[in-house]
Amino acid sequence: MPYRISNFEEYKSEYQQSVSDPEGFWAEKAENFEWRKKWDKVLDWNFTGPDIKWFSGAKLNITENCLDRHLITKGDQTAIIWEPNNTEENSISLSYKELYEKVCKFSNVLINNGVKKGDRVCIYLPMVPEAAIAMLACARIGAIHSVIFAGFSAASLSDRILDTDAQIVITSDGGFRGNKKINIKEIVDQALDKCPEVKTCIVLKRTGDEVKMISSRDKWWHLEELSAGKEHLSEEMEAEDPLFILYTSGSTGKPKGVVHTTAGYMVYSHYSFLNVFQYNKNDVYWCTADVGWITGHSYLLYGPLLEGATTLMFEGIPTYPNAGRFWEIIDKHQVNIFYTAPTAIRSLMAMGDEWPAKYKLDSLRVLGSVGEPINEEAWHWYSDKIGKNNCPLVDTWWQTETGGILISPLAGITPTIPSFATLPLPGIQPLIVDSEGKEIMGNNVEGNLCMKFPWPGIIRTTYGDHERCRQNYFATYPNLYFTGDGCKRDENGNYRILGRVDDVMNISGHRIGTAEVESAINEHKFVVESAVVGFPHSIKGQGIYAYVICDFEFEDADKVRNEIISEVVKIIGPIAKPDKIQFVKGLPKTRSGKIMRRILRKIAEGEVSNLGDISTLLDPGVVEDIKNGALV
Ligand code: WTA
Repeated sequence: MPYRISNFEEYKSEYQQSVSDPEGFWAEKAENFEWRKKWDKVLDWNFTGPDIKWFSGAKLNITENCLDRHLITKGDQTAIIWEPNNTEENSISLSYKELYEKVCKFSNVLINNGVKKGDRVCIYLPMVPEAAIAMLACARIGAIHSVIFAGFSAASLSDRILDTDAQIVITSDGGFRGNKKINIKEIVDQALDKCPEVKTCIVLKRTGDEVKMISSRDKWWHLEELSAGKEHLSEEMEAEDPLFILYTSGSTGKPKGVVHTTAGYMVYSHYSFLNVFQYNKNDVYWCTADVGWITGHSYLLYGPLLEGATTLMFEGIPTYPNAGRFWEIIDKHQVNIFYTAPTAIRSLMAMGDEWPAKYKLDSLRVLGSVGEPINEEAWHWYSDKIGKNNCPLVDTWWQTETGGILISPLAGITPTIPSFATLPLPGIQPLIVDSEGKEIMGNNVEGNLCMKFPWPGIIRTTYGDHERCRQNYFATYPNLYFTGDGCKRDENGNYRILGRVDDVMNISGHRIGTAEVESAINEHKFVVESAVVGFPHSIKGQGIYAYVICDFEFEDADKVRNEIISEVVKIIGPIAKPDKIQFVKGLPKTRSGKIMRRILRKIAEGEVSNLGDISTLLDPGVVEDIKNGALV
């Protein structure tokens, strides 16, 4: 059976085989990797624990598969192309050999700093090659990396450092983003004030600005390298040893640390990368996601490097120095495969067709979309103006918890339909359930999206709190993994993702829990209570609408609004800024005290005439008030 699928018939037969004999199917796929020792058992699982083990007994190191095994055949081939934020600065190419050497050296830096197998290492870096080097060095020595998106605030950073119990943080003096400079080290210093267990902070010089260095704790990356050896033999890892922790928002409480393990994640990120994007030898592949998100882990770094591909990493933003930057980079580096988010597409679409029209874009062969539903208008614009109607567009649906793409066309193989993620990858068994958890069979149906069988990249636990993992994903419906997304299956069995059915918003492709934003808003001294919902936003997909009750009379509402926004930026980061803040006297609550968000969502959407049944509300009068003051 082929590892790389090459036509639709083959897809169908691979899919059949993956369902009738999942263990045989994945055992065969796993043969494509280097193992120090092969597995004793392909799969052990139950979704009640959950307790999921892939390739038990196997021993390996993922970086041997990402780096060492390519050295003979691809040592001089480019592994990473790095494009800086500032156009005056030169781009950098790192060959597989160079990347290998840098990773070995930094592995020794970590070891010299006392990092051992199983230790957690927090990485808070901008989009520079060293972010990839640091992640791979962790994996090489068996430490668990926890990358935190460098747009998060000091408070979010310290929460995550504390949750992982890390003793070391890797960061930089600063970073460039568009025309701004970010004082990254200052944010880290603030965060570390709350993290006494962090004994070491390794600082990369990026902007060259002067920063405060605490001599007992802070060490320069380049100086540490001077005393680090060149050679490093990678650590032998068990299949189920954790590879990384990545925090993501849920509908309740603080973000949780999703744990992915070594062997299953390796097999799944590579298999899905190769088949969805149909990567060809010598292609230049560009995923615009930040390494701080799962897409950056699986499809900027691990998937492509496992394939021995050339992966492009961009430090900047799509609109700097102008709205042609993405298209300029595509021409400059002759990008063949381009993977980005609908928000970026919509914002560039709004800048006008003249921008892409200035560029050839003729190297492109495959386009991808990820992170949020892509509306038909954006889909067509992307396909027409960027793909010149000549590139298959893969709308890839997946989640931090799934480790890799689960539902997506395979480029050039699966017939595409605008705004549909289409069909499950081999090994993926989706089903749609109603609110009681009963499977809705057949086609032309709609409901909640679940998975009935594990795949190698599935979440294993949430760090330090297994019960939370069970509650969140495996308890809503017995024996099923619940995605939190609603979806539709059309008459031909194609899936269209409709968005979250829980209290998670998707703002510009970033997952943000309503509870997180509410608790940040509630920190403002005037605020008694708040309720947050998402509302449709033409660029961001969803915007944040906050209903806020204050116990203090004030004149200048805009001043208080701005203070609340600053509070949210301070506690979470700029990505969670509310777009609209409506001051209200009360919130629509049921007699048991539960906020009826359905009503708040409708009002935020401007659908005030059709609020449905409000008779169960404690005080239906508040709805009138809210309607009258709605900011739509
Ligand atoms: C949403 C990002 C529609 C979905 C990889 C999911 C999508 C959440 C798509 C996960 C898509 C992701 N179409 N919705 N192609 N891709 N989503 O964990 O709601 O940051 O549950 O992972 O994004 O977001 P996360």
